[in-house]
Amino acid sequence: MARTPVSAILPDFPWDTIASAKALAQSHPDGIVDLSVGTPVDPVDGTIRDALASVSAVSGYPTTHGTRELRVAAVESLQRRYGITGLDEQAVLPVIGTKELIAWLPRLLGLGPDDLVVTPELAYPTYEVGALLAGARVVRADGLTQLGPDSPALIFVNSPSNPTGKVLPVDHLRKVVAYARERGAIVASDECYLGLTWEGEAPSILDDRVCDGDHTGLLAIHSLSKTSNLASYRAGFVTGDAALVAELLAVRKHAGMMVPFPVQAAMTAALNTDEHESQQRERYRARRTALLAALRDAGFQVDLSEAGLYLWTTRGETCRTTVDWFAELGILVAPGEFYGPSGAKHVRIALTATDERIAAAVDRLSEG
Ligand SMILES: Cc1ncc(COP(=O)(O)O)c(C=O)c1O
Repeated sequence: MARTPVSAILPDFPWDTIASAKALAQSHPDGIVDLSVGTPVDPVDGTIRDALASVSAVSGYPTTHGTRELRVAAVESLQRRYGITGLDEQAVLPVIGTKELIAWLPRLLGLGPDDLVVTPELAYPTYEVGALLAGARVVRADGLTQLGPDSPALIFVNSPSNPTGKVLPVDHLRKVVAYARERGAIVASDECYLGLTWEGEAPSILDDRVCDGDHTGLLAIHSLSKTSNLASYRAGFVTGDAALVAELLAVRKHAGMMVPFPVQAAMTAALNTDEHESQQRERYRARRTALLAALRDAGFQVDLSEAGLYLWTTRGETCRTTVDWFAELGILVAPGEFYGPSGAKHVRIALTATDERIAAAVDRLSEG
């Protein structure tokens, strides 16, 4: 029987489609300002690097569940930073970056062709990839009424959102939890940008005001990539419903999905201190303020973008035209259609560039 390569069931990698815009931006005499991807550019904090180095001579296998120190540090940081209570350290599971977890979550939870996975309308593409890898059906919906009688098995929410920066308030998340509980669906809340709020707060799915202290059926996914600049280390964790986390742990043990021991030590140090995290937030805040003003002065409308690492921007034209306009200025941005059809007239502009490159973008926008 003919073999179907897994890659054949996945969407095309969209970044290849902005190669010509990238080449144009790179030809700018003062170099490219790449605001297309949300990759950290500031160095990893010294305490975290020291923690990594301090165990680099250890040669034994790490455990899939991670060290107790790491799990306790995760629980304590969630309480300190976001007011999340009632978590047991046993219900924390480290992951090799949250992209890995998201891409495999539907499969690890045993979903298949009979199951429906819901993603936000404008979404980080890996939620759909996860559904496809499990062979499940996938639908984009922001409102629960859009779903009709079809009961989903898994609902991904992402607040603050990539790409739009939209924050889902307590009321909205409460409705999602109530809906999921009525239908026996699991809610996976991707909280990668929870610590990067600019106006007001962003509640976690595990917040008592959202779930009334009951974590059943709820998973919160936390990445250290953005808040602690650890994208290169591949560091995240999932927590919430202890029974679901135990289920994930059981499968991941068999599958060898374990976080390297030095990275576990680095994560523990990162979760135990908040200073580097707030410093990083302030760096992004300054970059955001500068870019936001420059975009508005250049005639752009910035929608949503209350939190997170992106400005969701439009001039009312198709996103590819806007991408080309920026590329002429030597600035690379991401077309909104990468994230869903309703992004066709927006571009996503990342705040993840050095102060020097953000200043260059601001100058170019004022001359553009
Ligand atoms: C919404 C969202 N979730 C998850 C991730 C993955 O983060 P990581 O795999 O670095 O933890 C990203 C990365 O940009 C993201 O934007």
